[in-house]
Amino acid sequence: MSGFSAEWLALREPVDHLSRAAALRDSVAAHFKSCDHLSIVDLGCGSGSNLRALAPDLIANQSWRLVDYDPALLVAARATLSDWADHHTNEGDALVIRKDAKRIEVRFRQADLSTSVASVLDDGVDLVTATAFFDLVSPAWIEGFCADLARRRLPLFATLTYNGEETWLPPHSSDSAMLAAFHAHQAGDKGFGPAAGPAATGLMQAGLAAHGYRVAIAPSPWRLDAAHKGLIAALADGASGAVAETGRVEAAVIDDWSASRRQAQSCEIGHADLFGVPNSD
Ligand SMILES: C[S@@+](CC[C@H](N)C(=O)[O-])C[C@H]1O[C@@H](n2cnc3c(N)ncnc32)[C@H](O)[C@@H]1O
Repeated sequence: MSGFSAEWLALREPVDHLSRAAALRDSVAAHFKSCDHLSIVDLGCGSGSNLRALAPDLIANQSWRLVDYDPALLVAARATLSDWADHHTNEGDALVIRKDAKRIEVRFRQADLSTSVASVLDDGVDLVTATAFFDLVSPAWIEGFCADLARRRLPLFATLTYNGEETWLPPHSSDSAMLAAFHAHQAGDKGFGPAAGPAATGLMQAGLAAHGYRVAIAPSPWRLDAAHKGLIAALADGASGAVAETGRVEAAVIDDWSASRRQAQSCEIGHADLFGVPNSD
């Protein structure tokens, strides 16, 4: 339904986890360290990678609400989290996980966040988080979302938002034309209106600051090399397909770039992490 397959999300998960900015993760953990219980909403959860990355660093007693509009990914999330757990039980509609010394209660909710994000932010939420999600949404959606967060005084931890910076080695003569066309595709409508794409983190920073939040940002680039051949090839294919849809680059140029990029020695794909907290917290 969403165009993000569980296979693609599994391929990127180990690199995502390594790339996250450790200092911001530590700030999030420190912010909540005195809580007895933490209730977290994960927007655009996919198959649950964000929980697997973040939960080990948070306090022992957690509840997560995983939200996505793709029912197949929610099924994958339940299965993958069950496998990840040391022990799990199904209690009503909740999956209860024991992992190391943590107890993590997980609920799954299908919702289209383009129209209903406010409805998933209530009911005692302590932290809103999302991974690789905000580059899909529009500037107007971000503005409304920041206001929704501020009304509820909710902190936001956003990881791995694409920032548009890419370096592929060795260089190829079509790199800049391909990247410009890829960015044009990034700005297309992903269901929320014309997407913020690489501008998303800056827009969220400005939006939250306007509501009196303290906002910290740190880079979280993917650094890929010969150990990541599968992911590099998938990125080359994904970028080529996206550029072809724009009609901005000739097919022969795309094919040549794609063949070369599938064999790239290395590439760095820029992302940013953001932690925003209402000022008096
Ligand atoms: C790049 S994937 C990231 C998934 C996951 N957070 C991860 O890091 O593996 C983006 C996710 O956003 C979800 N998504 C996209 N548009 C959505 C919408 N309108 N409502 C809810 N979820 C949406 C997709 O289904 C997908 O799971």
